[in-house]
Amino acid sequence: MINTQIIKSKDLKKKDVKQFIYQTIKTGHTVVFPTETVYGIGGDALNPSAVKAIYLAKGRPSDNPLIIHIARKKDVHLYARHISSYAHILMKVFWPGPLTLIFDKKDIVPYETTGGLETVAIRYPQHLIAKQLIKISQSPIAAPSANISGKPSSTRFKHVYEDLNGHVQVIIDGGDSSIGIESTVVDVTQSMPCILRPGYITKEMIESVLGIQISDASREKINGAVKSPGMKYTHYKPKGEVKLLQGNPERMLAFIENDALNDKKAIICSDENASYFTSMLTKPIGSIHRLDLIAKNLFSTLREMDELNIEKIYVEVFPETHLGHAIMNRLLKASGYQIIKLI
Ligand code: TXA
Ligand code: MG
Repeated sequence: MINTQIIKSKDLKKKDVKQFIYQTIKTGHTVVFPTETVYGIGGDALNPSAVKAIYLAKGRPSDNPLIIHIARKKDVHLYARHISSYAHILMKVFWPGPLTLIFDKKDIVPYETTGGLETVAIRYPQHLIAKQLIKISQSPIAAPSANISGKPSSTRFKHVYEDLNGHVQVIIDGGDSSIGIESTVVDVTQSMPCILRPGYITKEMIESVLGIQISDASREKINGAVKSPGMKYTHYKPKGEVKLLQGNPERMLAFIENDALNDKKAIICSDENASYFTSMLTKPIGSIHRLDLIAKNLFSTLREMDELNIEKIYVEVFPETHLGHAIMNRLLKASGYQIIKLI
């Protein structure tokens, strides 16, 4: 076990704290930090032993590559080759922010970071603490989401602490993530951009900025040929069984009452439908008209289900347009790709 140091984000201004963080990163160790999307487990992206420490802390298969986080737009040129004109537009409009771009990598990026791939994922985050960490470290920071591999991502300090205390050198407490769902991953190595993971920046937003239609590989079958290694692993699973229900609330209620029997059950639903489910534990996660709030609450609500030892977690199906696409992508993975249609 590592003796994890907890640092409050306001203390990052202090000289000795900065020095400690710098030393931690430069000696190949790990620092958990907040971003606007989810928390990340950071290490020096150019140091293979730091990258190994990240995989170890997370329990992640080492062929699932990491995103390199930078704190200046121009640093993309240090790690990426061939930046297409579409990529330039996306960086101009969405960086800093929740968009990760996949480029052909330069030699300086170790294969440990890219999971053996010739491509590299780069993101310039918006969050002040994330930017501060990268600057203090004087290194690009490789970081996956700060959860034990397979579990829902962490959007709150409490959840990061539960998963990673004793497994990383430092956790920076930066409160709750404002977005709550991970960055959109877009492959810009080909002539046309392609979405590999839907996220906060939606397909509609990207298409409107580029003036073209783009493809979306994130729906490809889980066991088939996958473009992004992350697509093939189990993800976002709480301990309880997640069941996605599509249909009107009356039918959902009838199904649950018949299905759960003696199991400890709960439903995660829109605010609008909450009043139908008074006979069970109900977790309203936001109005159907506020997909941003549903996205923000999603992972913390799934984790709350574990805290309450819920055995059967029913979740209302949300529309798959705009941000709903990213929400449903996470929920489909959490449920093992099953929607129960009650029509
Ligand atoms: O919002 C986020 O992106 C957060 C914060 C911490 O920045 N990070 C995050 O990292 O979600 P992670 O490792 O949990 O997810 C990164 C995804 C994975 O699905 C991975 O397979 C994919 O990006 N990825 C990384 N490098 C890739 C590459 N070279 N080619 C294709 N996919 C890649
Ligand atoms: Mg992740």
